[in-house]
Amino acid sequence: MNLCVLGAQWGDEGKGKIVDLLTPRFSIVARYQGGHNAGHTVYVRGQKFVLHLVPSGILHPGVTCLIGNGVVVDPHALFAELDELARLGIGVDGRLLVSDKAHLILSYHRELDLLAEARRGERRIGTTSRGIGPAYEDKIARRGIRIGDLADQSADGPLVGAVRDNVEGRNRLIGNADLKWEDVVSDLRGVWTRLKPLVADVSLYLHQAMAEGRAVMFEGAQGTLLDIDHGTYPYVTSSNGTTGGVLTGLGVGPRAVDQVMGVAKAYTTRVGEGPLPTELHGAMGERLRETGQEYGASTGRPRRCGWYDAVAVRYAARVNGLDSLAITKLDVLDGLDELHVCTAYRCGDTVLREMPGDVAQLAACEPVYESIAGWQEPTKGLTSYDALPAAAQRYIRKLEETSGVPASIISTGSDREHTIIR
Ligand code: IMP
Repeated sequence: MNLCVLGAQWGDEGKGKIVDLLTPRFSIVARYQGGHNAGHTVYVRGQKFVLHLVPSGILHPGVTCLIGNGVVVDPHALFAELDELARLGIGVDGRLLVSDKAHLILSYHRELDLLAEARRGERRIGTTSRGIGPAYEDKIARRGIRIGDLADQSADGPLVGAVRDNVEGRNRLIGNADLKWEDVVSDLRGVWTRLKPLVADVSLYLHQAMAEGRAVMFEGAQGTLLDIDHGTYPYVTSSNGTTGGVLTGLGVGPRAVDQVMGVAKAYTTRVGEGPLPTELHGAMGERLRETGQEYGASTGRPRRCGWYDAVAVRYAARVNGLDSLAITKLDVLDGLDELHVCTAYRCGDTVLREMPGDVAQLAACEPVYESIAGWQEPTKGLTSYDALPAAAQRYIRKLEETSGVPASIISTGSDREHTIIR
Protein backbone atom coordinates (compact mmCIF):
# COMPACT_ATOMS: atom_id res chain seq x y z
CA MET A 1 0.00 0.00 0.00
CA ASN A 2 1.42 3.37 -1.04
CA LEU A 3 0.47 6.35 1.07
CA CYS A 4 0.70 10.09 0.49
CA VAL A 5 1.10 12.18 3.65
CA LEU A 6 0.54 15.90 3.21
CA GLY A 7 -0.44 19.05 5.07
CA ALA A 8 -4.16 19.79 5.35
CA GLN A 9 -3.71 23.37 6.61
CA TRP A 10 -1.14 26.16 6.07
CA GLY A 11 1.98 24.04 6.63
CA ASP A 12 3.79 23.17 9.86
CA GLU A 13 1.12 20.58 10.74
CA GLY A 14 3.68 18.14 12.09
CA LYS A 15 4.14 16.06 8.94
CA GLY A 16 7.75 15.25 9.87
CA LYS A 17 6.70 13.35 12.98
CA ILE A 18 3.93 11.46 11.16
CA VAL A 19 6.18 10.48 8.24
CA ASP A 20 8.90 9.37 10.66
CA LEU A 21 6.37 7.37 12.67
CA LEU A 22 4.92 5.56 9.65
CA THR A 23 8.23 4.98 7.85
CA PRO A 24 8.83 1.45 9.26
CA ARG A 25 5.85 0.30 7.15
CA PHE A 26 7.52 1.55 3.96
CA SER A 27 10.61 0.80 1.94
CA ILE A 28 10.81 4.20 0.23
CA VAL A 29 9.95 7.77 1.24
CA ALA A 30 9.74 10.25 -1.65
CA ARG A 31 9.50 14.05 -1.62
CA TYR A 32 7.67 15.52 -4.62
CA GLN A 33 7.75 19.32 -4.29
CA GLY A 34 9.07 22.35 -2.41
CA GLY A 35 12.62 22.84 -1.29
CA HIS A 36 14.48 23.77 1.87
CA ASN A 37 11.70 26.22 2.73
CA ALA A 38 10.24 23.19 4.53
CA GLY A 39 11.29 22.42 8.07
CA HIS A 40 10.30 19.00 9.33
CA THR A 41 11.08 18.54 13.00
CA VAL A 42 11.40 15.02 14.32
CA TYR A 43 12.22 13.98 17.90
CA VAL A 44 13.72 10.57 18.47
CA ARG A 45 14.24 9.61 22.11
CA GLY A 46 14.50 13.28 23.00
CA GLN A 47 16.98 14.14 20.25
CA LYS A 48 15.77 16.82 17.83
CA PHE A 49 16.31 16.53 14.06
CA VAL A 50 15.23 19.27 11.67
CA LEU A 51 15.04 18.12 8.06
CA HIS A 52 14.52 20.53 5.19
CA LEU A 53 15.16 18.75 1.91
CA VAL A 54 15.90 15.19 2.89
CA PRO A 55 12.70 13.16 3.42
CA SER A 56 11.89 12.53 7.08
CA GLY A 57 12.18 8.75 6.49
CA ILE A 58 15.99 9.03 6.45
CA LEU A 59 16.21 8.49 10.22
CA HIS A 60 15.30 4.82 9.69
CA PRO A 61 18.17 2.62 8.49
CA GLY A 62 17.34 0.59 5.40
CA VAL A 63 14.78 3.03 4.05
CA THR A 64 15.54 4.67 0.69
CA CYS A 65 14.70 8.37 0.36
CA LEU A 66 14.00 10.05 -2.95
CA ILE A 67 13.98 13.70 -3.95
CA GLY A 68 11.78 14.01 -7.02
CA ASN A 69 11.94 16.24 -10.06
CA GLY A 70 9.24 18.48 -8.57
CA VAL A 71 11.59 19.57 -5.77
CA VAL A 72 13.91 22.58 -6.15
CA VAL A 73 17.31 21.77 -4.71
CA ASP A 74 19.76 24.25 -3.22
CA PRO A 75 22.84 22.00 -3.40
CA HIS A 76 24.67 23.77 -0.58
CA ALA A 77 21.63 23.48 1.68
CA LEU A 78 21.46 19.78 0.82
CA PHE A 79 25.16 19.29 1.62
CA ALA A 80 24.79 21.13 4.92
CA GLU A 81 21.91 18.83 5.82
CA LEU A 82 23.87 15.72 4.88
CA ASP A 83 26.83 16.95 6.98
CA GLU A 84 24.52 17.49 9.94
CA LEU A 85 23.01 14.02 9.54
CA ALA A 86 26.53 12.53 9.40
CA ARG A 87 27.46 14.44 12.56
CA LEU A 88 24.44 12.89 14.28
CA GLY A 89 25.57 9.44 13.15
CA ILE A 90 23.03 8.98 10.34
CA GLY A 91 24.61 7.68 7.15
CA VAL A 92 22.75 8.17 3.89
CA ASP A 93 25.11 6.30 1.55
CA GLY A 94 23.12 4.54 -1.14
CA ARG A 95 19.85 5.52 0.59
CA LEU A 96 19.33 8.98 -0.87
CA LEU A 97 18.67 9.57 -4.56
CA VAL A 98 17.98 12.89 -6.25
CA SER A 99 16.23 13.27 -9.60
CA ASP A 100 18.33 14.41 -12.52
CA LYS A 101 15.30 16.51 -13.52
CA ALA A 102 15.09 18.48 -10.26
CA HIS A 103 15.87 22.17 -10.72
CA LEU A 104 18.63 23.91 -8.83
CA ILE A 105 18.31 26.90 -6.53
CA LEU A 106 21.41 29.04 -7.02
CA SER A 107 22.69 32.04 -5.08
CA TYR A 108 20.97 34.54 -7.35
CA HIS A 109 17.58 32.95 -6.71
CA ARG A 110 17.93 33.84 -3.04
CA GLU A 111 18.84 37.42 -3.92
CA LEU A 112 15.91 37.70 -6.33
CA ASP A 113 13.55 36.32 -3.65
CA LEU A 114 14.63 39.06 -1.23
CA LEU A 115 14.42 41.71 -3.93
CA ALA A 116 10.91 40.67 -4.99
CA GLU A 117 9.74 40.76 -1.36
CA ALA A 118 11.25 44.22 -0.82
CA ARG A 119 9.54 45.47 -3.99
CA ARG A 120 6.18 44.08 -2.92
CA GLY A 121 6.33 46.20 0.25
CA GLU A 122 2.97 46.01 2.04
CA ARG A 123 1.86 43.20 -0.27
CA ARG A 124 4.83 40.99 0.53
CA ILE A 125 4.20 37.26 0.84
CA GLY A 126 6.49 36.66 3.78
CA THR A 127 8.55 34.03 1.96
CA THR A 128 11.24 32.00 3.68
CA SER A 129 13.78 33.87 1.46
CA ARG A 130 15.28 30.57 0.30
CA GLY A 131 14.96 31.41 -3.41
CA ILE A 132 12.05 29.02 -3.93
CA GLY A 133 9.81 31.29 -6.03
CA PRO A 134 12.56 32.52 -8.41
CA ALA A 135 13.85 28.96 -8.95
CA TYR A 136 10.36 27.76 -9.93
CA GLU A 137 9.96 30.89 -12.08
CA ASP A 138 13.06 29.88 -14.04
CA LYS A 139 11.73 26.34 -14.37
CA ILE A 140 8.39 27.46 -15.81
CA ALA A 141 10.10 30.06 -18.01
CA ARG A 142 12.24 27.20 -19.40
CA ARG A 143 15.54 28.74 -18.43
CA GLY A 144 16.12 26.75 -15.24
CA ILE A 145 19.16 24.59 -14.56
CA ARG A 146 18.47 20.97 -13.77
CA ILE A 147 20.74 18.71 -11.80
CA GLY A 148 21.32 16.50 -14.85
CA ASP A 149 22.61 19.55 -16.75
CA LEU A 150 25.66 19.59 -14.49
CA ALA A 151 27.04 16.49 -16.23
CA ASP A 152 28.28 18.51 -19.20
CA GLN A 153 30.58 21.22 -17.94
CA SER A 154 32.25 21.95 -21.29
CA ALA A 155 32.99 25.62 -22.00
CA ASP A 156 30.67 25.71 -25.02
CA GLY A 157 28.04 23.38 -23.55
CA PRO A 158 24.42 24.22 -22.63
CA LEU A 159 25.11 24.55 -18.90
CA VAL A 160 27.64 27.31 -19.27
CA GLY A 161 25.41 29.13 -21.77
CA ALA A 162 22.38 28.92 -19.48
CA VAL A 163 24.31 30.10 -16.42
CA ARG A 164 25.72 33.04 -18.40
CA ASP A 165 22.25 34.06 -19.63
CA ASN A 166 20.70 33.72 -16.19
CA VAL A 167 23.43 35.66 -14.41
CA GLU A 168 23.24 38.41 -17.01
CA GLY A 169 19.48 38.54 -16.49
CA ARG A 170 20.01 38.78 -12.74
CA ASN A 171 22.55 41.57 -13.20
CA ARG A 172 20.12 43.58 -15.33
CA LEU A 173 17.36 43.14 -12.75
CA ILE A 174 19.47 43.93 -9.72
CA GLY A 175 21.28 46.74 -11.51
CA ASN A 176 24.83 45.65 -10.78
CA ALA A 177 27.24 43.12 -12.19
CA ASP A 178 28.95 41.96 -9.00
CA LEU A 179 28.01 38.33 -9.69
CA LYS A 180 30.23 36.71 -12.32
CA TRP A 181 28.81 33.78 -14.27
CA GLU A 182 32.30 32.23 -14.25
CA ASP A 183 32.11 32.01 -10.45
CA VAL A 184 28.73 30.31 -10.59
CA VAL A 185 30.03 27.78 -13.13
CA SER A 186 33.08 27.10 -11.02
CA ASP A 187 30.89 26.56 -7.94
CA LEU A 188 28.73 24.13 -9.93
CA ARG A 189 31.80 22.07 -10.77
CA GLY A 190 32.31 21.35 -7.07
CA VAL A 191 28.58 20.77 -6.63
CA TRP A 192 28.55 18.12 -9.38
CA THR A 193 31.47 16.23 -7.84
CA ARG A 194 29.53 15.75 -4.63
CA LEU A 195 26.06 15.41 -6.13
CA LYS A 196 26.84 12.97 -8.93
CA PRO A 197 26.71 9.74 -6.86
CA LEU A 198 23.20 10.68 -5.67
CA VAL A 199 21.68 11.43 -9.05
CA ALA A 200 19.17 9.01 -10.54
CA ASP A 201 16.13 8.66 -12.76
CA VAL A 202 13.77 8.75 -9.79
CA SER A 203 10.65 8.00 -11.84
CA LEU A 204 12.25 4.83 -13.22
CA TYR A 205 13.53 3.83 -9.78
CA LEU A 206 10.03 4.18 -8.34
CA HIS A 207 8.45 2.31 -11.22
CA GLN A 208 10.79 -0.66 -10.74
CA ALA A 209 10.48 -0.58 -6.96
CA MET A 210 6.69 -0.58 -7.09
CA ALA A 211 6.75 -3.46 -9.61
CA GLU A 212 8.77 -5.41 -7.02
CA GLY A 213 6.09 -4.68 -4.44
CA ARG A 214 8.09 -2.20 -2.35
CA ALA A 215 5.79 0.19 -0.47
CA VAL A 216 6.21 3.92 -0.98
CA MET A 217 5.29 6.89 1.16
CA PHE A 218 4.95 10.18 -0.71
CA GLU A 219 5.87 13.10 1.51
CA GLY A 220 4.33 16.54 0.94
CA ALA A 221 5.90 19.75 2.16
CA GLN A 222 4.08 22.97 3.12
CA GLY A 223 0.30 22.54 3.18
CA THR A 224 -2.85 22.56 1.04
CA LEU A 225 -3.62 26.24 1.69
CA LEU A 226 -0.08 27.13 0.53
CA ASP A 227 -0.47 25.22 -2.75
CA ILE A 228 0.25 27.36 -5.83
CA ASP A 229 -3.12 26.42 -7.41
CA HIS A 230 -5.41 25.56 -4.52
CA GLY A 231 -4.00 27.76 -1.78
CA THR A 232 -4.70 31.35 -0.78
CA TYR A 233 -3.04 32.76 -3.90
CA PRO A 234 -0.86 34.85 -4.09
CA TYR A 235 0.03 34.13 -0.43
CA VAL A 236 1.28 30.66 -1.27
CA THR A 237 4.45 28.81 -2.09
CA SER A 238 5.39 28.13 -5.72
CA SER A 239 4.63 24.40 -6.00
CA ASN A 240 1.81 21.86 -5.69
CA GLY A 241 1.88 20.35 -2.22
CA THR A 242 -1.54 18.78 -2.89
CA THR A 243 -1.93 15.20 -4.12
CA GLY A 244 -1.61 16.14 -7.80
CA GLY A 245 1.98 17.18 -7.13
CA VAL A 246 2.90 13.54 -6.45
CA LEU A 247 2.28 12.57 -10.05
CA THR A 248 4.09 15.43 -11.74
CA GLY A 249 6.76 15.77 -9.04
CA LEU A 250 7.89 12.14 -9.20
CA GLY A 251 6.77 10.85 -12.56
CA VAL A 252 4.28 8.22 -11.39
CA GLY A 253 0.74 7.43 -12.57
CA PRO A 254 -2.45 8.11 -10.55
CA ARG A 255 -2.80 4.52 -9.40
CA ALA A 256 0.55 4.76 -7.60
CA VAL A 257 -1.22 6.51 -4.71
CA ASP A 258 -3.45 4.11 -2.78
CA GLN A 259 -4.31 6.32 0.19
CA VAL A 260 -3.96 9.96 1.20
CA MET A 261 -3.52 11.09 4.79
CA GLY A 262 -3.89 14.75 5.70
CA VAL A 263 -1.99 16.05 8.70
CA ALA A 264 -3.80 18.77 10.66
CA LYS A 265 -3.00 20.41 13.96
CA ALA A 266 -5.74 20.38 16.58
CA TYR A 267 -5.74 24.16 16.05
CA THR A 268 -4.44 26.29 13.16
CA THR A 269 -1.16 28.09 12.48
CA ARG A 270 0.34 30.02 9.62
CA VAL A 271 3.69 31.67 9.09
CA GLY A 272 4.05 34.47 6.55
CA GLU A 273 1.40 36.85 5.23
CA GLY A 274 -2.09 36.18 3.89
CA PRO A 275 -5.52 35.55 5.38
CA LEU A 276 -6.02 33.25 8.35
CA PRO A 277 -9.72 33.44 9.26
CA THR A 278 -9.46 31.93 12.75
CA GLU A 279 -6.37 33.89 13.81
CA LEU A 280 -6.34 34.90 17.49
CA HIS A 281 -4.55 38.15 18.22
CA GLY A 282 -4.86 38.32 22.00
CA ALA A 283 -3.83 36.24 24.96
CA MET A 284 -5.28 33.00 23.55
CA GLY A 285 -3.14 33.29 20.41
CA GLU A 286 -0.11 33.87 22.61
CA ARG A 287 -1.08 30.89 24.79
CA LEU A 288 -1.23 28.57 21.77
CA ARG A 289 2.09 29.93 20.43
CA GLU A 290 3.94 29.46 23.70
CA THR A 291 2.46 26.10 24.67
CA GLY A 292 2.79 24.76 21.13
CA GLN A 293 6.22 26.35 20.65
CA GLU A 294 4.94 27.76 17.40
CA TYR A 295 8.09 29.16 15.86
CA GLY A 296 9.16 28.29 12.30
CA ALA A 297 11.52 25.30 12.05
CA SER A 298 13.29 26.89 9.06
CA THR A 299 13.23 30.58 9.88
CA GLY A 300 12.42 30.82 13.61
CA ARG A 301 9.58 33.24 12.82
CA PRO A 302 6.67 33.23 15.30
CA ARG A 303 3.67 31.47 13.80
CA ARG A 304 0.23 33.07 13.76
CA CYS A 305 -2.16 30.88 15.78
CA GLY A 306 -5.91 30.34 15.82
CA TRP A 307 -8.72 27.87 16.40
CA TYR A 308 -9.22 24.78 14.23
CA ASP A 309 -10.67 25.74 10.86
CA ALA A 310 -12.87 22.90 9.62
CA VAL A 311 -13.73 24.81 6.42
CA ALA A 312 -10.04 24.72 5.49
CA VAL A 313 -9.60 21.03 6.36
CA ARG A 314 -12.83 20.07 4.56
CA TYR A 315 -11.43 21.87 1.53
CA ALA A 316 -8.14 19.98 1.90
CA ALA A 317 -10.15 16.75 2.05
CA ARG A 318 -11.80 17.66 -1.25
CA VAL A 319 -8.78 18.80 -3.27
CA ASN A 320 -6.54 15.98 -2.03
CA GLY A 321 -9.07 13.15 -1.74
CA LEU A 322 -8.14 12.57 1.92
CA ASP A 323 -8.87 9.12 3.33
CA SER A 324 -7.84 9.94 6.87
CA LEU A 325 -6.46 12.63 9.17
CA ALA A 326 -3.56 12.67 11.56
CA ILE A 327 -4.45 15.21 14.25
CA THR A 328 -1.33 16.61 15.89
CA LYS A 329 -0.57 18.60 19.04
CA LEU A 330 -3.79 17.71 20.86
CA ASP A 331 -1.91 18.12 24.17
CA VAL A 332 -1.35 21.82 23.45
CA LEU A 333 -5.06 22.34 24.17
CA ASP A 334 -4.88 20.69 27.63
CA GLY A 335 -6.23 22.90 30.41
CA LEU A 336 -8.44 25.18 28.29
CA ASP A 337 -12.01 25.64 29.51
CA GLU A 338 -13.61 26.07 26.13
CA LEU A 339 -12.53 25.39 22.55
CA HIS A 340 -13.89 26.72 19.28
CA VAL A 341 -14.11 25.05 15.89
CA CYS A 342 -14.76 27.15 12.79
CA THR A 343 -17.46 25.47 10.69
CA ALA A 344 -18.29 28.26 8.21
CA TYR A 345 -17.28 31.80 7.27
CA ARG A 346 -19.51 34.87 7.46
CA CYS A 347 -18.81 37.29 4.68
CA GLY A 348 -21.12 40.31 4.96
CA ASP A 349 -24.64 38.84 4.88
CA THR A 350 -23.53 35.58 3.34
CA VAL A 351 -22.54 32.44 5.19
CA LEU A 352 -19.98 30.43 3.23
CA ARG A 353 -19.59 26.72 3.93
CA GLU A 354 -16.84 26.27 1.34
CA MET A 355 -13.45 27.96 0.98
CA PRO A 356 -13.77 30.98 -1.34
CA GLY A 357 -11.35 31.15 -4.27
CA ASP A 358 -10.78 34.87 -3.92
CA VAL A 359 -8.22 35.85 -1.32
CA ALA A 360 -9.76 39.31 -0.76
CA GLN A 361 -13.09 37.68 0.03
CA LEU A 362 -11.41 35.23 2.39
CA ALA A 363 -9.63 38.11 4.12
CA ALA A 364 -13.00 39.79 4.69
CA CYS A 365 -14.56 36.65 6.23
CA GLU A 366 -15.32 36.17 9.90
CA PRO A 367 -15.28 32.66 11.34
CA VAL A 368 -18.55 31.07 12.47
CA TYR A 369 -17.71 28.98 15.53
CA GLU A 370 -19.14 26.01 17.33
CA SER A 371 -18.01 25.90 20.94
CA ILE A 372 -17.10 22.76 22.79
CA ALA A 373 -15.95 22.13 26.36
CA GLY A 374 -12.22 21.67 26.97
CA TRP A 375 -10.54 19.26 29.42
CA GLN A 376 -8.32 19.80 32.42
CA GLU A 377 -6.55 16.42 32.56
CA PRO A 378 -3.21 16.16 30.72
CA THR A 379 -3.27 14.24 27.44
CA LYS A 380 0.45 14.64 26.87
CA GLY A 381 2.11 11.37 25.97
CA LEU A 382 -1.09 9.30 25.96
CA THR A 383 -0.98 6.34 23.61
CA SER A 384 -4.56 5.02 23.72
CA TYR A 385 -7.77 6.66 22.61
CA ASP A 386 -9.66 5.21 25.58
CA ALA A 387 -7.25 6.96 27.96
CA LEU A 388 -8.19 10.39 26.57
CA PRO A 389 -10.51 12.47 28.74
CA ALA A 390 -14.13 12.25 27.54
CA ALA A 391 -14.06 15.93 26.49
CA ALA A 392 -10.93 15.35 24.37
CA GLN A 393 -12.67 12.40 22.69
CA ARG A 394 -15.67 14.66 22.00
CA TYR A 395 -13.32 17.26 20.54
CA ILE A 396 -11.72 14.71 18.20
CA ARG A 397 -15.18 13.53 17.12
CA LYS A 398 -16.13 17.16 16.45
CA LEU A 399 -13.05 17.63 14.23
CA GLU A 400 -13.84 14.44 12.33
CA GLU A 401 -17.50 15.35 11.89
CA THR A 402 -16.88 18.94 10.77
CA SER A 403 -13.93 18.05 8.53
CA GLY A 404 -15.64 15.00 7.04
CA VAL A 405 -12.61 12.71 7.50
CA PRO A 406 -11.85 10.10 10.20
CA ALA A 407 -8.79 10.66 12.38
CA SER A 408 -6.63 7.53 12.30
CA ILE A 409 -3.71 9.06 14.21
CA ILE A 410 -3.72 11.48 17.14
CA SER A 411 -0.45 12.93 18.29
CA THR A 412 -0.13 13.83 21.95
CA GLY A 413 3.49 14.99 22.12
CA SER A 414 6.59 15.51 20.06
CA ASP A 415 8.20 12.08 20.52
CA ARG A 416 7.49 9.08 18.29
CA GLU A 417 5.97 7.25 21.25
CA HIS A 418 3.51 10.05 22.04
CA THR A 419 0.95 8.84 19.58
CA ILE A 420 -2.47 7.22 19.45
CA ILE A 421 -2.95 4.95 16.44
CA ARG A 422 -6.53 3.83 15.87
P1 IMP B 1 8.34 30.42 0.00
O1 IMP B 1 7.94 29.00 -0.13
O2 IMP B 1 9.63 30.63 0.71
O3 IMP B 1 8.28 31.16 -1.33
O4 IMP B 1 7.24 31.15 0.92
C1 IMP B 1 5.89 31.34 0.50
C2 IMP B 1 4.93 31.19 1.66
O5 IMP B 1 4.92 29.83 2.09
C3 IMP B 1 5.29 32.00 2.90
O6 IMP B 1 4.10 32.39 3.55
C4 IMP B 1 6.05 31.01 3.76
O7 IMP B 1 6.01 31.35 5.12
C5 IMP B 1 5.26 29.75 3.47
N1 IMP B 1 6.03 28.52 3.67
C6 IMP B 1 6.97 28.01 2.85
N2 IMP B 1 7.44 26.84 3.34
C7 IMP B 1 6.76 26.62 4.47
C8 IMP B 1 6.77 25.54 5.42
O8 IMP B 1 7.47 24.55 5.28
N3 IMP B 1 5.91 25.67 6.46
C9 IMP B 1 5.08 26.73 6.59
N4 IMP B 1 5.03 27.73 5.75
C10 IMP B 1 5.86 27.68 4.68
